[in-house]
Amino acid sequence: MNSDMTFFRDNIEKMSAYVPGEQPADLAGVVKLNQNENPYPPSPKALAVLREYDGEQLRLYPDPMVSSFRRMAAEVVGVGADWILPGDGSDDLIIMIARAAAGPGRPIAYPVPTFPFYFTQGQIENAPLVEVPAGEDFSLPIDKLAAADAALTFVANPNSPTGATATVEQLDWLAGKVSGLLAIDEAYVDFADAVVMDLARRRTNVIVLRTLSKSYSLAGLRLGFGVANPTLMAGLLKTKAIYNVGPLPAAVGAAAMADTAYHDQCVRAIRAQRTHLAEALAKRRWTVWPSGANFLMAAPPGGDAKAAFEALKARRVLVRYFNQDRMRDKLRISIGTPQDIDALLDALDAMAAKRT
Ligand SMILES: Cc1ncc(COP(=O)(O)O)c(C=O)c1O
Repeated sequence: MNSDMTFFRDNIEKMSAYVPGEQPADLAGVVKLNQNENPYPPSPKALAVLREYDGEQLRLYPDPMVSSFRRMAAEVVGVGADWILPGDGSDDLIIMIARAAAGPGRPIAYPVPTFPFYFTQGQIENAPLVEVPAGEDFSLPIDKLAAADAALTFVANPNSPTGATATVEQLDWLAGKVSGLLAIDEAYVDFADAVVMDLARRRTNVIVLRTLSKSYSLAGLRLGFGVANPTLMAGLLKTKAIYNVGPLPAAVGAAAMADTAYHDQCVRAIRAQRTHLAEALAKRRWTVWPSGANFLMAAPPGGDAKAAFEALKARRVLVRYFNQDRMRDKLRISIGTPQDIDALLDALDAMAAKRT
């Protein structure tokens, strides 16, 4: 073999792989507030479907379109089943959309800071990447995203790691300005007030992404769905792996979505604990940004977020530190149970007492 030859395309050789949040092998005694997981168990009705699932069915190839899940998701969001794109988590949807819409000469734009997987997938597609700094208050830079007019624009709403949430009017305006596709990633929407699903129905260039990883407490199941009009769907489905969602996740996910009472109860608890944590941090002189998600972006007094991250970790409380512009003085803290929050606050108080 020619020694100059590599096995991979240039852009793959040059890029770095996505780095997920830390997942300790032993969770005993760990307060895990670093990956925006739901601290409550999945719906008992969903777990019953899992327990009672007829494993014999797994012998056969499944329905590639997981039609029963598609129908369930369609009912929840109020569209036809042909508007639903099933995904192996929403990161699978991001892959499908980027594969279909972006590439050399077809840029991807997104605000920064945001979910870093848009960047990773953009690099895989070898697409030009237009990173648009969020406003000073971390608001969505709609003017600059509109001016970028990329083939594909990703907006996480609420955004991660900031929690900032744009209004439906702002996103509607942006959808009207860009000539390309606007993918609105609603991973955290159930914790927010601005629900933009209606834009998928009204705007021909909008796809809205949902996941069962956060509010439904099913991050390990790997299930999400996109909502877009059938014309967009026809293009997006060409990039779907044939059997990307198996019948087991589809059945468990559909049961979780049907259990609206349990879902509402979890979401209400997490929203109340978000308010409580924001107030408790502010009392301890942290700066806390408004959040529509199941986490808070917050800066410790003095701004040494890395030291706070490490001191918390030494006390077995895991939060997220991002070594990137505008984030080095901040932490992202997922909302846990009241007990998790007490443990976090106790650790912070112990750290402060040690300093004085
Ligand atoms: C904004 C955003 N979108 C998508 C995802 C991916 O979620 P999943 O692939 O579990 O559906 C995450 C995960 O943290 C996220 O923060």
